Parts: sequence; C-alpha cells; structure tokens
Amino acid sequence: MKRMKNEPAARNALYAQSGGVSAVINASACGVIEAAAKARRRIGRIYAGRDGIVGALTEDLIDVSRESPATLRALRYTPAGAFGSARFKLRSIEQNRAEYQRLIEVFRAHDIGYFFYNGGNDSMDTALKISQLGAAMNYPITCVGVPKTVDNDLPHTDCCPGFGSVAKYIAISTLEGAMDVASMARTSTKVFVLEVMGRHAGWIAAAGGLAGRKAGEPPHIILFPEIPFEQARFLERVKQCVTNYGYCVIVVSEGTRYADGRFLAEAGTRDAFGHTQLGGVGPVVANMVREALGYKYHWAVADYLQRAARHVASKVDVEQAYAVGKAAVQYALAGMNAVMPAIKRRSSRPYRWQIVPVPLAEVANVEKRVPREFVTADGFGITAACRRYLEPLIAGEDYPPYRGGLPAYVRIRGVAVKRKLKTEFKL
Ligand code: F6P
Repeated sequence: MKRMKNEPAARNALYAQSGGVSAVINASACGVIEAAAKARRRIGRIYAGRDGIVGALTEDLIDVSRESPATLRALRYTPAGAFGSARFKLRSIEQNRAEYQRLIEVFRAHDIGYFFYNGGNDSMDTALKISQLGAAMNYPITCVGVPKTVDNDLPHTDCCPGFGSVAKYIAISTLEGAMDVASMARTSTKVFVLEVMGRHAGWIAAAGGLAGRKAGEPPHIILFPEIPFEQARFLERVKQCVTNYGYCVIVVSEGTRYADGRFLAEAGTRDAFGHTQLGGVGPVVANMVREALGYKYHWAVADYLQRAARHVASKVDVEQAYAVGKAAVQYALAGMNAVMPAIKRRSSRPYRWQIVPVPLAEVANVEKRVPREFVTADGFGITAACRRYLEPLIAGEDYPPYRGGLPAYVRIRGVAVKRKLKTEFKL
C-alpha cells in the first residue's frame, strides 16, 4: 500500500478479552476487528491475546487475519470469549515491573501500537496501567478500554454490554419459572428461588423484577446486595405471599449480605483480583424457608447459563456491544489514549443512545451499584424508575442462525503468531 508523505507507518493492533465472559463480548470483538480491518493504512495486522492478557505476557498471540471472514462475522452472534479470557490482575508498575517490561517486550517485538482491552472495572484498571506504560517506559502505545460486564457496575455509562442480555434471560426465566410454580402451588411447590449473578451490585436481580408488573405478580421478593438482609423480615414476607397468593417467587442476588457485611453464601475461594467467589445463596435461602416455614420449594442457580445465553440475547445489547468495539478503534485512530467508549442515554422512551468517550481513570475500579430510589421502600422490589431504566436494555431479539436444532455458533481456528522472543515468561 502506497503511503502518503508524512503518513505514519501502520502499526499492529492487539485485542484481548478479560474477566467473566458474556453473551455479547464477541460482538464487541467483531466491532473492533471489522473497524480495524477497514483502517488498513493505520492498522497493519490484528492480533488477539490467547486467554486475554495472559496471551500477551506469554507471547501467545492469535493471528486474527487467519480466521475466515465468515467466522469473524459469526462472532457477532457467538457467546463466551472466542479468544479466551482471563482473570489476571497486573499490579502497579512499582510492585511488579517485570510484568510491564515483559508486556513492552512483546509489544515491541510485534510492533503493537494499539491495545484494545475488553473487560469490566478491574480490566479498565489494567488498561489504564498499560496505557501509562508508554510514558513510563518510553514505548508509544494507544490503549482503549472496551466495556463489558454482565454485572452492569461500570460508572459513567448508561449500561454495560453483556448486561442487557443477562437481564433479558433473568426476566424471562423469572416469568417462566413463576408460571410453572403458580400452576401447581395448590398441591405442590410453594416457593421458587432463583439465584442470579452480579457480584456486589443488584442490577441482574433487579432485572428479575421486570417479570411482574402489577402488585402481587411474581417475583414477590428480590434480595439485593445493596439492601442488608434481615432474616425475620424476609421469612415474614414469604409467609405473607404464600398466604395471599398461594406461592412465592424469590430472586436472590449472589452478593446478598447481612447488615454486618457477611455474604449469605461464599464459596470460600478468591480470584486473582481478590474477589470472594460468590454463589450458592439460592439453596441457603431455600433452606431457611424450609426450616422456618416447612414449605415445599425448588431452587435454581442460573450461574453460567445466564451469561452464556446468546439464544435470547437483547438486540439493544448486541448493537451496543458491537458499537463500543467499533468506537474503540475510531477513538484510537483519532489519537485518543486511555479512554473507554461509554453509552450515553439520550432518552428512555423511545430509547436513544450514543457512544461517548470517558477517561479510563474515571472508570477504573469504581463500582456503580443500584441506587436506593430504584428499590421499593420495603427493600423487596423495583420501582417504576428502575423499570424505566431497565426495560429498554432488554428490548428486541437478535436470534442466531440455527443448524440441526442448535444455534450455529463458531469456534475460531486460533492460528498462533510466530514467536519472536527467546525468553519464556512464567506466570
Ligand atoms: O463479573 C462477572 C461475573 O459473572 C460475576 O457476576 C460473577 O460473580 C463472576 O463473574 C464469576 O466469575 P468466575 O466465572 O471467574 O467464577
């Protein structure tokens, strides 16, 4: 390709997925890759870290251009992390210079000039630190964060790609599960508990509330991490619901805690970021009900099913996921460093949004939790304001194509880029 006079030489781009994956993170990958492919004068080859930043550190890079155009297009409707994701936190440059030096070495060896990091709060922190590499270690790199988290807890963005689809899955599952219980409650199950993810933020639990519109419609109780759990009050409400409606549907967030901060359920392990691994609160709550009230119950832990459920993804979510990927490349090409494309709501009805840049420094490590005005005064439900916020995010369907009765998802070939460094990096 002939270069114009004074035109900077094209440099390569590295894309990496980070943290918990989602139904639409690959739609963001698709947005990044398609936008980068259109910028051939500025972006040479497109690489992806195999298993995220771990691939960058170990020089295990995937040559994205070796994937077929059909595979790359299909990323838009394929769930989970096509290139592999990782929970791996880079410490500060002062604490672990070796990791940063290694990254620079790998970047330099492969002439990486653009780094796109697709993740949540912790990952935005990592992205920020890498963007500071340029200054600290004299290596020019443009680094842009691409937001993703089903927890919906990044600040300065209307929502986080990945959330809308989980919200839709949980709202639908609550509705369907509740219909099942209602139909047999007279002689059988009286209580159904659905445990959802979300860590310290109750956004996903709140989405369960979309299933019921009128007073008395399920879910009857939502347990939020933001509202301290009071066992006696909770059991009293369960009893009331069974007495009044014949059954009780409960959506419980994995991060629900007692007033003293203890989680109702902890798996006893921590991840690389020091987060307590949550999960298992559903059976804990169901057991409380059985012991105190003796009702027959069922419980379900939505777990990975909720964040992998691409078959019922929200159309808005898919569109936003793609849009932030595409915008990330446009920002990088415009010379914007250490920013994240965020979603700005222009109106709720109809839902209008646009993409705007926010500095990574403002989003890194900040958790946006469900505000009190989104939770009803009794602490067990969502308000009209919360419904107004959530509803547009689950709007529309974007079904994947099906083959043989199953979604026709793709797997990448994952051809490795030839290694250039002699040294191995031990994680
Ligand atoms: O942060 C996203 C999330 O799905 C949380 O809601 C959940 O607690 C966590 O990831 C689970 O992480 P992992 O898959 O690493 O156990």
